[in-house]
Amino acid sequence: MEKHIENIQKYLHNGHAEDMENRIERLRKHIDDILLNMKDTEERRCGYLHLYGVSQACAMIALKRNQDVELATMTGMLHDLHSYKAMNTENHAEHGAVLARQILKELALTTDYETDLICSAIRNHSSKATTHSAFDEVLKDADVLQHCLYNTLFPVMEHEKCRFQNLLTEFGILRTV
Ligand SMILES: [Fe+2]
Repeated sequence: MEKHIENIQKYLHNGHAEDMENRIERLRKHIDDILLNMKDTEERRCGYLHLYGVSQACAMIALKRNQDVELATMTGMLHDLHSYKAMNTENHAEHGAVLARQILKELALTTDYETDLICSAIRNHSSKATTHSAFDEVLKDADVLQHCLYNTLFPVMEHEKCRFQNLLTEFGILRTV
């Protein structure tokens, strides 16, 4: 098992010094360290799939909407980290925003403005029925997209149908959910 984790670590952190100048990679290393320390392997698997799946969806949606792709990617990586780390989803958006702020401060990765932008998106991301700022909406939609694309043979959840349909339309996919 230890060897397996070491191999994952090697694969995920290629160790190139220049990557450490890259804020996404610096944050990824920190998040990987938290996930790799999770005892529950199934939860760990879910954490990797969801956090990095959402971060990639954030990047795609941010590119489409001309939002900040780097910050959107980082927001996706952080957004549910608290839930996996604490193994507790109660009030997870609020707790997630607090943890994200702590990490960004500790790693000195972002300006105050950028930290507020990221934390606001995380704090608001559970309110899927409400519309917030354009940047906040990237995370909400990315969250839905990851859920819906995880396995397209699963039915789309009722409360995500509207956002998923809007995303398909936005990306030029002529299909009805
Ligand atoms: Fe999520």
